[in-house]
Amino acid sequence: MSIDPMKYRQVLGHFPTGVTVVTGALDGTPIGFTIGSFTSVSLDPPLVGFLPMVSSDRWQRIREAGAFCVNVLAREHDDLCWRFSKTSIDDPFEGVGWSPSPVTGSPILDGAIAWMDCTIDQVVDAGDHHFVMGLIVDFEHAHPDSDPQPLLFFRGQLGEFSAH
Ligand SMILES: Cc1cc2nc3c(=O)[nH]c(=O)nc-3n(C[C@H](O)[C@H](O)[C@H](O)COP(=O)(O)O)c2cc1C
Repeated sequence: MSIDPMKYRQVLGHFPTGVTVVTGALDGTPIGFTIGSFTSVSLDPPLVGFLPMVSSDRWQRIREAGAFCVNVLAREHDDLCWRFSKTSIDDPFEGVGWSPSPVTGSPILDGAIAWMDCTIDQVVDAGDHHFVMGLIVDFEHAHPDSDPQPLLFFRGQLGEFSAH
C-alpha cells in the first residue's frame, strides 16, 4: 500500500456526509447498517448508490434479498447511527420503530427524513468495497411543515446542518 491508511481516513474524514441506514429483509428478518457513502447516481433511470465493505455480513444478506431501502437519518438519530454501525449488536432493530416498505418490504425507520426503496441493479467491484447501485421503485420525504433536519458526519463526529 502506497499511502498511510490512517491518513486516508483522516483526509477523507474532512468530507462531510449525511448519515443513512440501509435496510433490507431476508426471510422476514430485518437487516440494517449505517452507511455514509450514499449518493445519487442517475435520474433516468432513477439510480442511487452506496459502498459497503466486501466483507460485510449484512451487505451479503441484503444482496441475497435483492433489494434495499435507504433511510436518511434525522438530526436526533445519533443512537440509530451508532447502533446500526456495531457488528457486536446482534439485533439493532430491537426497540426501534419501523414499517415495511410497500414494494420490497425493506424496513422504513420511524422518523427518517427521506427514504428510497430500491431493487439491486448493479454491483461493481471497487477495491475492498462494492459499489452497489439500486433502481428506485418507491420513495418519499418528510413533510416540509415538519422542518426536516439531517444528521451529519464530519471528522468522526455527528452534528447538524446550519444554513448560512
Ligand atoms: C457514520 C458512519 C458511516 C458509515 N459508512 C459506511 C459505508 O459507507 N460503508 C461501509 O461499508 N461501512 C460504513 N460504516 C460502517 C458500517 O456501519 C459497519 O461496518 C457495519 O454496520 C458492520 O456490518 P457487518 O457486521 O456486516 O460488518 C459507517 C459507520 C458510520 C458510523
